[in-house]
Amino acid sequence: QRVSGSGFVFTEKEETVLLPILPSCLPQLDLLSLTTTVASGGPCEIVWSWVIKPRRTSGNKLEKILQEVLESHGERRTEELRGDLPRSFQRHGDLLLMGDNCFSLPLWRKMDQHVWSVVAKGLGAKRLAKMSRISRDGFRSPVVTVLLGEHSWVKHVDKRIRYEFDVTRCMFSAGNITEKLRVAGFDCRGETVVDLYAGIGYFTLPYLVHAGASRVHACEWNPDAVKALQKNLQAKGVSDRCTAHQGDNRQLQLCAVADRVNLGLIPSSEDGWPVACRLLNRTTGGILHIHQNVTSASPIAAHRPSGKRADREAWQDITGARWRTNNRHVEHVKSYAPHVHHVVLDLECRPS
Ligand SMILES: C[S@@+](CC[C@H](N)C(=O)[O-])C[C@H]1O[C@@H](n2cnc3c(N)ncnc32)[C@H](O)[C@@H]1O
Ligand SMILES: *[C@@H]1O[C@H](CO)[C@@H](O)[C@H](O)[C@H]1NC(C)=O
Ligand SMILES: *[C@@H]1O[C@H](CO)[C@@H](O)[C@H](O)[C@H]1NC(C)=O
Ligand SMILES: *[C@@H]1O[C@H](CO)[C@@H](O)[C@H](O)[C@H]1NC(C)=O
Repeated sequence: QRVSGSGFVFTEKEETVLLPILPSCLPQLDLLSLTTTVASGGPCEIVWSWVIKPRRTSGNKLEKILQEVLESHGERRTEELRGDLPRSFQRHGDLLLMGDNCFSLPLWRKMDQHVWSVVAKGLGAKRLAKMSRISRDGFRSPVVTVLLGEHSWVKHVDKRIRYEFDVTRCMFSAGNITEKLRVAGFDCRGETVVDLYAGIGYFTLPYLVHAGASRVHACEWNPDAVKALQKNLQAKGVSDRCTAHQGDNRQLQLCAVADRVNLGLIPSSEDGWPVACRLLNRTTGGILHIHQNVTSASPIAAHRPSGKRADREAWQDITGARWRTNNRHVEHVKSYAPHVHHVVLDLECRPS
């Protein structure tokens, strides 16, 4: 990228610019205006600092380190090869998780394990894994191959909560830091919360540990994620306040207990809306936190004025009660493509 007087200007090539942000400044950060002013309408998101880019020097360092291995295999350093080295990765403890845009040339497949030990050492890690994509199996499990290391469980500490999970079987939402900080700041003392898409506890744990919820019902259908969730609850000593419901949340046998329902599924949590309505406490109602991808042109579909009456009737059918709803807040989590945004609607629902 070029840096111009007015800020960063992106070239045609797909490149990323990382801007360091102090955690204390996050609440003041306006992602939407940043998207237009800095990213020229391109995708813009907040990521954890462990999503690091090696400085040019460490890129060179890796190249130097690999030189010997390459030479012993009769390979020469080329521009193509240089472009095939990892430029960004996630660090989970001693495991480095690389994206799918590196080590893709056929020559790497000819080499033995030794090359991965060299790479790991060069990047200050003990284990190496490579991601290809988030699978479409509904579990959102990333397709991850371990290149070096005995196992694929990792520890990730974040706001004094330790998340342990198997990188080959569960996803870790690195990009939702603002939403997680927001949840951690809620006051849920005395509340019963249902997390309909709990995963490894990315929102469930802040609800219990920081927001002080009296009880969280965590729904999750991926058995590997449930295993990780239980481990993480135990490590934090909050298992007694959490009930894990393994299975499809649409089949959940729970009703009218919740003060709050978290619907953290992108692109849409729409399948969970009827479930969430059934879950709300009939006498007091509660708040739904609805995650959704939206385009800049259309706010959350359920709240198109034209659909409002129909929605209200549908809700009445589901819950057998009349509800007053109020859009308390729309949180902009990130933009992941031009004009496509991940937002969370805080929908207050009270019986009328
Ligand atoms: C995108 S992940 C998000 C997890 C967590 N909210 C986070 O940010 O890390 C969604 C999770 O919901 C689970 N899930 C999707 N549909 C489900 C359903 N119908 N019932 C139960 N769990 C479901 C997936 O297995 C996955 O772990
Ligand atoms: C952020 O959270 C949503 C909902 O929990 C999830 O579907 C999405 O994949 C997450 N984003 C990232 C970058 O992990
Ligand atoms: C609904 O909320 C009221 C008031 O907080 C509470 O007394 C009642 O126990 C709740 N209902 C259920 C089923 O939790
Ligand atoms: C948003 O999610 C919906 C599914 O609810 C999907 O059909 C649509 O293509 C997504 N839109 C964008 C712009 O990603």
